[in-house]
Amino acid sequence: MLLKGKRILLGICGGVAACKSLALLRLLMKEGAEARCVCTPAALQFVTPLSIEALSGYPLFHDLFAPRDLPATAHVGLSDWADYLIVAPATANTLAKFAHGIADNALTTLFNAFDKRTLAVPAMNTRMFRNPATQANLQLLRSRGVEVMPPGEGFLACGAQGEGRMPEPEEILRHFLSLSFAKEDAFFKGKHVLLTAGPTRERIDPVRFLSNRSTGKMGSRIADELQQRGALVHFVCGPLQACPKGSPFETVAVESAREMYQACLERWPEMDMGILSAAVADYAPKEISPVKIKKAGGGFPMELERTPDILLELGREKRAGQLLTGFALETDHELENAREKLRRKNADLLVLNSLRDPGAGFAVETNRVCFLDREGGVDDRPIASKEEVAAWILDKLAGMGTSGALKS
Ligand code: CTP
Repeated sequence: MLLKGKRILLGICGGVAACKSLALLRLLMKEGAEARCVCTPAALQFVTPLSIEALSGYPLFHDLFAPRDLPATAHVGLSDWADYLIVAPATANTLAKFAHGIADNALTTLFNAFDKRTLAVPAMNTRMFRNPATQANLQLLRSRGVEVMPPGEGFLACGAQGEGRMPEPEEILRHFLSLSFAKEDAFFKGKHVLLTAGPTRERIDPVRFLSNRSTGKMGSRIADELQQRGALVHFVCGPLQACPKGSPFETVAVESAREMYQACLERWPEMDMGILSAAVADYAPKEISPVKIKKAGGGFPMELERTPDILLELGREKRAGQLLTGFALETDHELENAREKLRRKNADLLVLNSLRDPGAGFAVETNRVCFLDREGGVDDRPIASKEEVAAWILDKLAGMGTSGALKS
């Protein structure tokens, strides 16, 4: 199920190859995609709304003006809904309209309103494909980010042999899956995400500090997963033992809780999301001694004070549409404590780790988490690699963001 959770619009133009579009629709759905179809009036000479609707389970969008189940602004609604548009077959006529911004039917209007990734699969007679106008239109579309799958060679509907044949549905699916953008996630693409990771260090004197056992592994795996999904990661980290594999959009290396707090607060108004996985020290020495403190009789003279709570402050300043995720590491009364933390810090999602679980916690490759959301949802997951847990966290956030849970 390589397309699980992906929403795909399949655009169909009027060509003999349209009959293969139905098989492509089935293949996309078999891979777990939710697919809806949109077609040009000419496509209906080759395929019927009934067959498309029966296969996809959704009304076909084919007429901008006809009274139907779809709202009058379906071209906008559908383009908001979908992650990708695949146009197969794409005829010379429709490609020309795409290239020149013409919006005169359901598919061309939708294309004009669509700002996500598009794969066009041209299918036409060889001379039409080679026509300089078609080639110039394809070039224009490619320069604007449209992916164009090269047509196959073979026996064409007109009886000729040559370039222009629509590839088989299995080949189109393989091509789509091989594109790097199929791994991107429309929800995260281009979003600015503030991510904290690692421990903080609170200086006592020039040689001593207070810290904790966090290595930054979980946060670094989240950074990698965010980047793979196309997010712009602002990575604010304490001293790490495990770093991200890629280079985040911005890395801010800090030492103390106060430095981390300042770096986060400055950036928060511009962010779409905050994921605070850092193990921030709750207390820091009230004063940092400029010289090494010499040992003396009795105890160690050190007064501690509370550090600023970053999650709490970002939660206070959170504006509508921003998503905030906190972590909780508990040793007892886990659910109760975590629920209280979610509410008090105004987070949208809380990732609870329990130190009681073997294989979870610091400096190990695995983690065991339970998700808590604002609606009271509790989602306990089995032990898994930190990569897998990172993917779950992002899937959870994407689900919350697209379900409209945040609109309020
Ligand atoms: N956190 C933070 N700033 C702090 C302390 C914690 O941003 N000064 C964040 C952590 O990154 C984590 C969440 O708050 O996402 C929970 O941290 P935790 O230390 O478990 O919670 P506390 O509120 O400190 O509660 P307690 O120590 O009492 O359990």
